[in-house]
Amino acid sequence: MKSIAIDGPSGAGKSTIAKILSKKLGFIYLDTGALYRSISYKLLNMNIDLNDDILLKNILKDTKIEIKFIDDNQKIYIDDIDVSDNIRRPEISMAASKFSAIDSVRKYLFKKQIDISKKNNIIMDGRDIGTIILPNADLKIFLTANLDDRVNRRYKELKKNGMDINLEDVKRDMEKRDNHDSTRKISPLKIAQDAIIIDTTGYSLEKTLDEVGLIIKGRF
Ligand code: DC
Repeated sequence: MKSIAIDGPSGAGKSTIAKILSKKLGFIYLDTGALYRSISYKLLNMNIDLNDDILLKNILKDTKIEIKFIDDNQKIYIDDIDVSDNIRRPEISMAASKFSAIDSVRKYLFKKQIDISKKNNIIMDGRDIGTIILPNADLKIFLTANLDDRVNRRYKELKKNGMDINLEDVKRDMEKRDNHDSTRKISPLKIAQDAIIIDTTGYSLEKTLDEVGLIIKGRF
C-alpha cells in the first residue's frame, strides 16, 4: 500500500491539501485529528477523572468509533452518533489537545490508524504521522506557516461555518494548543527527519498546491 504523511501545527492547511491530493491520486484521506476530537468529545461529555487510567481504558474499550467516507466527506461516528460537526467547536479543539497527550488514548487510536493504513492507499494528516504512525511512508510533508497566517485561515474557516468567535480568542487557543502538542512527552508534533518542509506563509491555496504538485510529480 502507498502512503503519504502530512504533519504540521494547527491551521497550516493540512486537511485542505490532503483532501485535494487524495482526490487527485485516488487515495483514502484520513483526518487523524478528527479521531482525537471524537474521543475527546465523548470524554468531555462524560466528565470523568482523567487520572483514573483503569476507568479510561474501560471506556475506550467499549467505544465504537467509525469513519465513513461519504462522497467527498469523511463522517465520523462515536457509538453510532454522527459527531462530524460537533467536534469542530473550539472547546473540542482544546480538549483534543489535552486528551491526546494521554498514553491510553494514543494507544487506542494508534491501532485504529494502523488498521486503516494497512488496507488502503492513504494520505493521513496529523501531528505524529511521519514520526510514529507511518514511519515508512512513501512521502512525508511537514506543512507550516507563521502564526498570524494560520490564525487568519482558521478564523475565516470557523466564521464560514457559522461560529461566533473573535480573532484574539482563535490566536490565544492556537498558540496554547501548538505549544501543548509540540511539548508533550508522548508523540509530540515534530518534523520527521526525512520530511519535506513546506512553509506556506503568504501563500495562496493555489501556490501551495503547485508546490505540492512539484513534489509528488512522478512519484505516485
Ligand atoms: O488536527 P486537529 O487540529 O483536528 O487536531 C486536534 C488535536 O488532536 C490537536 O491539537 C492534537 C491532537 N492530534 C494529535 O495529537 N495527533 C494527531 N495525529 C492528530 C491530532
